[in-house]
Amino acid sequence: MSDKAILEINGEKHEFPIMKGTENEVAIDIKTLRGTTKGVITLDSGYKNTGSCKSAITFLDGEKGILRYRGYTIEELAEKADFLEVAYLLIFGDLPNKEELDKFHSDIKKHSVVDDDVKKIIDAFPKSAHPMGVLSSLTSALTAFNPESVNVDSEEDMYNAIVRLMGKLPILVAWSMRKKKGLPLHYGDSSLGYVENLLKMMFKQPNEEVYEQNPILVDALDKLLILHADHEQNCSTSTVRITGSSHAGLFVSIAAGISALWGPLHGGANQAVLEMLEAIKEDGGDTKKYMAKAKDKSDPFRLMGFGHRVYKNFDPRAKIIKVAADEVLGDLGVEDPILDIAKGLEKEALEDQYFVDRKLYPNVDFYSGIIYRAMGIPTEMFTVMFALGRLPGWIAQWREMRLNKEPIGRPRQLYIGENERSFKSIEKR
Ligand code: SDX
Repeated sequence: MSDKAILEINGEKHEFPIMKGTENEVAIDIKTLRGTTKGVITLDSGYKNTGSCKSAITFLDGEKGILRYRGYTIEELAEKADFLEVAYLLIFGDLPNKEELDKFHSDIKKHSVVDDDVKKIIDAFPKSAHPMGVLSSLTSALTAFNPESVNVDSEEDMYNAIVRLMGKLPILVAWSMRKKKGLPLHYGDSSLGYVENLLKMMFKQPNEEVYEQNPILVDALDKLLILHADHEQNCSTSTVRITGSSHAGLFVSIAAGISALWGPLHGGANQAVLEMLEAIKEDGGDTKKYMAKAKDKSDPFRLMGFGHRVYKNFDPRAKIIKVAADEVLGDLGVEDPILDIAKGLEKEALEDQYFVDRKLYPNVDFYSGIIYRAMGIPTEMFTVMFALGRLPGWIAQWREMRLNKEPIGRPRQLYIGENERSFKSIEKR
């Protein structure tokens, strides 16, 4: 393949370098386009064909259903690593040795408290507040209590902001759930592992002396967090990167990512999947009705948990979560008709020509909610769990963007509005 791309505009030829990625992906570097063509730009609504950056963090191949974090396959990491190891891998580039992992965890534990005034902010929310709105607000508010986390140019300052956020976000996740449930906001126990501590903060009842850890839940949640940890330049990660590119602090950049993830077309889909499955159950399990709605162009309904901007094959995470859902429900002795409806819907969709033609497969959100539900996590909290899983990926991407000294993100546009026109007084309008 040539190392140059040639674009001919109005009879003039313009050459642009062709770049190759580690896995032989090809990109045309158009950074000189507007200058050499006196103003011509490309247009790619939704950026399906446009790379925003070079990144060494996550590789995915949507056609082959491949997902790797820093070269390690998601299948191996989900089976052999724990979430904190994967967080370290994503953020710093390689799997930590025992000393590095212990130091990372110990530094995180040092910051696993938040200013007590944060409770006053939570108290100000109505119980009806969606926990994603609470989480995004509180994550942004953390800046006020950690001003040293804003201007982080050195790797050391960045590290300190990172371990602060890794320590504090699980508290905000747990407290956003307990606020909804009307439970007191308390801490976990820094002698516990990262996921055990989260579960204790989420589920310990005020009248319980000791919170009994269930190893099935610990393992299931650890695996779910790993599977959600990063996914290259998705909507929320691109939001984190472009927010951070203005040199806004880490906490507010992550708060922006949490807000983007909330949308039902993105991370909010895991909540929407459960609500869809519940509706089908209420409808007597009439999956055919919902399949028809999903295919009806006049109906805005989409089969939540199906389809993907990039995967045109099975989402490898969905395969792992589907097996885990069976295991967790079996281990917990939970018979959930919702899981049976999900499997029936999946089978129908995989055999339906509309879905086959459009390469619509179950994605990460299709089965995850079933496990969260079996764990006793309220449906409105599902996307909050996604956000906690994605935290190390967002941090890794933000850190890479800042260490690479990338310029402030500022896309162009094709203007299709009015030509110049003169002001009209109100009497003449
Ligand atoms: C996540 O980007 C990431 O990496 C995201 C994520 C991550 O880890 O960060 O993987 C997490 O967000 C997973 C996606 C969760 N969202 C959902 O499950 C919501 C339901 N899915 C759809 O809304 C949709 O599939 C999207 C938003 C995910 C993708 O939308 P696209 O890119 O517009 O889909 P497409 O271009 O592939 O659509 C092709 C066709 C269209 O129909 P036609 O115009 O060709 O007739 O498929 C149709 C679409 O209307 N289609 C669906 C559908 N998804 C696409 N039809 C019914 N149900 C669906 N779910």
